[in-house]
Amino acid sequence: APDISLAAVKAHLSQFQTIANDNGGNRAHGRPGYLASANYVKGLLDAAGFTTTLQSFTYNGATGYNVIAEWTRAGDANDVLMVGAHLDSVSAGPGINDNGSGSAAILETALEVARQNLAPAKRLRFAWWGAEELGLRGSQFYVNNLSATERSRIKGYLNFDMVGSPNPGYFVYDGDNSDGTGAGPGPAGSAQIERTIQDYFTSIGVPTRGTDFDGRSDYGPFIAVGIPAGGTFTGAEGIKSSAQASLWGGTAGQAFDRCYHRSCDTTANINDTALDRNADAIAYAVWTIATATPPV
Ligand code: PHE
Ligand code: ZN
Ligand code: ZN
Ligand code: ZN
Ligand code: CA
Repeated sequence: APDISLAAVKAHLSQFQTIANDNGGNRAHGRPGYLASANYVKGLLDAAGFTTTLQSFTYNGATGYNVIAEWTRAGDANDVLMVGAHLDSVSAGPGINDNGSGSAAILETALEVARQNLAPAKRLRFAWWGAEELGLRGSQFYVNNLSATERSRIKGYLNFDMVGSPNPGYFVYDGDNSDGTGAGPGPAGSAQIERTIQDYFTSIGVPTRGTDFDGRSDYGPFIAVGIPAGGTFTGAEGIKSSAQASLWGGTAGQAFDRCYHRSCDTTANINDTALDRNADAIAYAVWTIATATPPV
């Protein structure tokens, strides 16, 4: 799997920051900074050779958009791996960690697929969701509008929401509910996705912990219809414990992201090491799952 360029991911974050600065300070649903963000992502994917769709929906009297990009040059169209991140911010700020980080990391992964002219066994489909912050509206709209046949073709969904938190944890969605807490395991196949992501962090010597499928991000509509899911997360408003600070460094007694949903969620609100490791983990998971034969 490739080493994703941290500089390239951060260049996308700078573009999201500029878009927010030029559009009233945010990239929120129904605001001009959201559509500008969607057009930025779509433009790069179109130029790279993806087949893209700007899917619109209405929520709260405003038009929202999902950007969907499929790598149609290769892969079995009946065996789809989806990779998604929400592209909207809250209205309070530019949303650079939440979720410029996941959006930029999957964007750079998609662009690397194109640069390598990757020919995976699975069909790769990337998604940038609208209106997550208003209740997973874009991803729910997408899943609701799949026919039964289209839905059955999606064999896995990888979600990345907040992957550069300034006081980071290294959380992997707990597909097997190995900690025995929370909402229980994900759909069958989620445990294998979890193991694949854990394998990457093990290979770089970074310990991980589980985070529950608690319904707070865009994997929710996918697991609700039985699609296996997984992904990573570096923490939001939760407080890093002393045990977690011993494990990962950083500051015990402080939030993983003290700027969560605030105006200070800017390009300064990113831990480069966490962003770099997560971007590389995304590429590892995409390459491993999509290129495996027989598919995993
Ligand atoms: N989805 C939350 C948000 O965008 C953040 C979050 C992600 C919380 C993953 C928990 C787990 O605000
Ligand atoms: Zn949020
Ligand atoms: Zn988020
Ligand atoms: Zn687990
Ligand atoms: Ca659990």
